[in-house]
Amino acid sequence: MKELLNIDNISVSYGNIKALQNVSMHVNQGDIVCLIGANGSGKSTLLKAIVGQEPLITGSITFDGDEICVPKVEAGKKGKKHKILTTDLIAARGISLVPEGRRVFADMTVEENLDMGAYLVRDENLITERKEAMYDFFPILGSRRKQKTRSLSGGEQQMMAIARALMSGPRMILLDEPGLGLAPLVIADIFEKIAVINQQDNVTVFLVEQNARMALKASTEGYVMENGRIVLSDASSALLENERVRAAYLGE
Ligand SMILES: Nc1ncnc2c1ncn2[C@@H]1O[C@H](COP(=O)(O)OP(=O)(O)OP(=O)(O)O)[C@@H](O)[C@H]1O
Ligand SMILES: [Mg+2]
Repeated sequence: MKELLNIDNISVSYGNIKALQNVSMHVNQGDIVCLIGANGSGKSTLLKAIVGQEPLITGSITFDGDEICVPKVEAGKKGKKHKILTTDLIAARGISLVPEGRRVFADMTVEENLDMGAYLVRDENLITERKEAMYDFFPILGSRRKQKTRSLSGGEQQMMAIARALMSGPRMILLDEPGLGLAPLVIADIFEKIAVINQQDNVTVFLVEQNARMALKASTEGYVMENGRIVLSDASSALLENERVRAAYLGE
């Protein structure tokens, strides 16, 4: 199994708040890996750090063998090859984030939102081809392509956020709580789509969820985060049977 994403000993702070403390983890190519944890445990901060939206204090992040994030002090050292990539450059390497709360452009149409997702793609034909593929894959988006996004349901907006992230043709997508605020049947639909994207399109998936049961069932490997630290990691099937996970996250 080839390691696609490697996170080595990273720490992130907001002023005095230590949001991530010495976090290490990895995602193998082709896998669906999940991260579960309570409110405020640091899940979104980890995803933001991966795409260069939050600076590291310690550690490093490597994607497909290349360092993409290091702390500023390291990057600044003379004679070192380390550098900090901007969010755009990280996206261009093939990582696409579907942010928490979907963050769709509500006043834009579905089609305009998808165009925004393709801002790094220069080839107009490729953009058209990808949009058509998204409309095939999410038929509801196809039938609403000229409609303002704010008129879509929560589940439809989540599908659009995922489709938008796929428009750049990523090798890996980071999903921040895709099930948030949605009905169980809608969440099941979205997770089914994620599985197809992973298997048919060969996109590696890193999934952050508070819905631990859904996340562990959908993934092969899982990590548990508490107070900015990884406290457990194992095969997802093993975590589903883990006493501590069952008591704290599965309500058993
Ligand atoms: N921009 C910010 N400024 C200051 N503190 C922040 C900021 N963003 C997050 N935090 C704090 O960092 C910690 C981790 O937050 P984060 O959003 O990463 O958690 P989370 O696991 O994604 O939570 P949730 O499940 O509620 O989305 C929390 O204590 C939070 O209050
Ligand atoms: Mg969050």
